[in-house]
Amino acid sequence: MIFIIAFLMLLLVQLGVQSFALNAGSCAASFGTIAVFGGTGQLGRECVYQALKSNHNVVVLARDPSKMLVPVGSGGDDADKPMADERLRIIRGDVTNQEDVNRVFQSSDDIAGVIVALGGRTKDVGPTMLTDGTGCIIHAMKKFSNATKRIAVVTSIGTGDSEKQAPWTFKALMYTVMRKTFADKNNQEQLFTLPSGPGHDLE
Ligand SMILES: NC(=O)c1ccc[n+]([C@@H]2O[C@H](COP(=O)([O-])OP(=O)(O)OC[C@H]3O[C@@H](n4cnc5c(N)ncnc54)[C@H](OP(=O)(O)O)[C@@H]3O)[C@@H](O)[C@H]2O)c1
Repeated sequence: MIFIIAFLMLLLVQLGVQSFALNAGSCAASFGTIAVFGGTGQLGRECVYQALKSNHNVVVLARDPSKMLVPVGSGGDDADKPMADERLRIIRGDVTNQEDVNRVFQSSDDIAGVIVALGGRTKDVGPTMLTDGTGCIIHAMKKFSNATKRIAVVTSIGTGDSEKQAPWTFKALMYTVMRKTFADKNNQEQLFTLPSGPGHDLE
């Protein structure tokens, strides 16, 4: 979990926004809004939590807003309680619905960066959710001229050029039971990595 938290802090810095620990109301100013897709998941909760701690406003698109809970671990005694913060806005919607994604970018004029922490089992979320949903996000980032061009997408070891780096035990899963998930993850990455990909020119 420490590695995940460190990674997320790095992620926020990479999005180009100042980040600092929030000390008992020492600073009321905001450093812009972070849009999080998949914010109710394990990783997404941590992203939302850390972004709020770093004094950002956060907007989350969630199919079920009641799943927006404080993460286990860094959330301490508040873990699994509803995440309530005046700087957190939750918009109900599905990432594969373009209109729902558009509403996220229309909800704020100071979105400084986008985090995509989408996931789930293929049998639950469908075989192309990652690619379709990320495609909708890219489309919205380009449609709205004032929208940020900064995006961080969490995929997995074994995806794209990290295929060879996966341990053999994980490869055994990648090529069998997780084959469909990894096909979707590879297509999701290629939205950015292929020169012809719609997200290739985003930061
Ligand atoms: N957790 C880890 O330790 C870890 C480590 C390395 C990499 N990753 C990668 O990070 C990503 C997220 O992992 P996770 O463990 O946080 O997954 P997770 O707990 O299953 O969360 C997935 C998130 O995606 C959302 N989602 C799924 N379909 C959606 C849709 N159609 N519209 C809107 N939201 C949708 C889920 O919302 P619902 O609740 O509505 O389904 C949930 O918020 C994955 O790509 C995973 O491979 C995770």
